[in-house]
Amino acid sequence: MATEPVNVSEFQELAKQALPKMFYDFYSGGAEDQYTLRENIEAFSRIMFQPRVLVDVSCINLSTTILGYKISSPIMVAPTGMHKLAHPEGEVATARAAAACKTIMVLSFSSTCTVEEVASSCNAIRFFQVYVHRRRDISAVLVQRAERCGYKAIVLTADTPRLGRREADIKNKMISPQLKNFEGLLSTEVVSEKGSKLAAFANGALDPSLSWKDIAWLKSITNLPILIKGVLTAEDAVKAVEVGVAGIIVSNHGGRQLDYVPATISVLEEVVQAVGGRIPVLFDGGIRRGTDVFKALALGAQAVLIGRPVIFGLAAKGEYGVRRVIEMLRDELELTMTLCGCRSVKEITRSYVQTERDSLRSLL
Ligand SMILES: Cc1cc2nc3c(=O)[nH]c(=O)nc-3n(C[C@H](O)[C@H](O)[C@H](O)COP(=O)(O)O)c2cc1C
Repeated sequence: MATEPVNVSEFQELAKQALPKMFYDFYSGGAEDQYTLRENIEAFSRIMFQPRVLVDVSCINLSTTILGYKISSPIMVAPTGMHKLAHPEGEVATARAAAACKTIMVLSFSSTCTVEEVASSCNAIRFFQVYVHRRRDISAVLVQRAERCGYKAIVLTADTPRLGRREADIKNKMISPQLKNFEGLLSTEVVSEKGSKLAAFANGALDPSLSWKDIAWLKSITNLPILIKGVLTAEDAVKAVEVGVAGIIVSNHGGRQLDYVPATISVLEEVVQAVGGRIPVLFDGGIRRGTDVFKALALGAQAVLIGRPVIFGLAAKGEYGVRRVIEMLRDELELTMTLCGCRSVKEITRSYVQTERDSLRSLL
């Protein structure tokens, strides 16, 4: 392969070459049979375009606004853990790339750089993702530190009362390193010899009693807007609106939690309809092409987040690699919009795509 990758999957190949097997498997893998992991990607290929021709597409505007923050395109950075296992500069490199691309980065609770290091490294617009620890004070301290250093929203990950069963991590005895964010608060290091040390740590740390009632607790400890990540059904989307959060992220954790949940792109429309425009709906899972971004927007997402593509860019080429991945997806989206006859993100509507359900309906 030429050294300069031309698409996300070539970045994945470079990342595979660059990383030790344990870390590549951790980043790329999913839960159990990895059905959902594959389906997240494959479901996009069953959605077809219905482009319009003879539209003046000499000027394409990709910019959009999320929670009041203007970004250069509707492609944001999803929270993913432990970037220093991919590159020595870790989340600081990722944040700088997000800043260069004028987009939003969601920093993971399980980051290897501290919330303060990432905040002072650049002027990226940052959100902070939180897992609720059995010791609530630990999550509260992190949320408040993030708020103090200028993060703009809290993303509560709701699909992880326990870690999904990731069999590659079990076989590789995936490590659980000490995370600097937690120094003085808790030890995240696990030294057991059996299975995934990361799963052992996470399952001891995550609070499985977390419920809708606890949104009130989260609101009581922060003034920041709260987004719920991990919604997959209309029923939960309605609950999210009722508890008064600022937005939701349709996500199945990149197929790493419950296997055999549908691809996120297959449930997006149902969630969007249930929300009915009352709060923004963001989307992640399986985005590898600009065409995927367009499809998610056409089905009602305000923006998408990318998880693994960012890590592949980081592992392959550090900050530059992350920037290239975001730019490539942005350029592909721009071309898709041009060829579909959409001049702005607002013009991307449902009528530009045909889903499997549409084809079935037309047969009835
Ligand atoms: C290696 C890895 C680590 C992740 N860590 C977190 C995390 O710390 N918090 C979280 O909410 N989601 C986490 N996720 C899920 C992502 O935020 C996102 O939902 C998912 O990666 C989207 O799918 P994609 O990788 O196909 O883009 C992680 C995903 C991966 C691949």
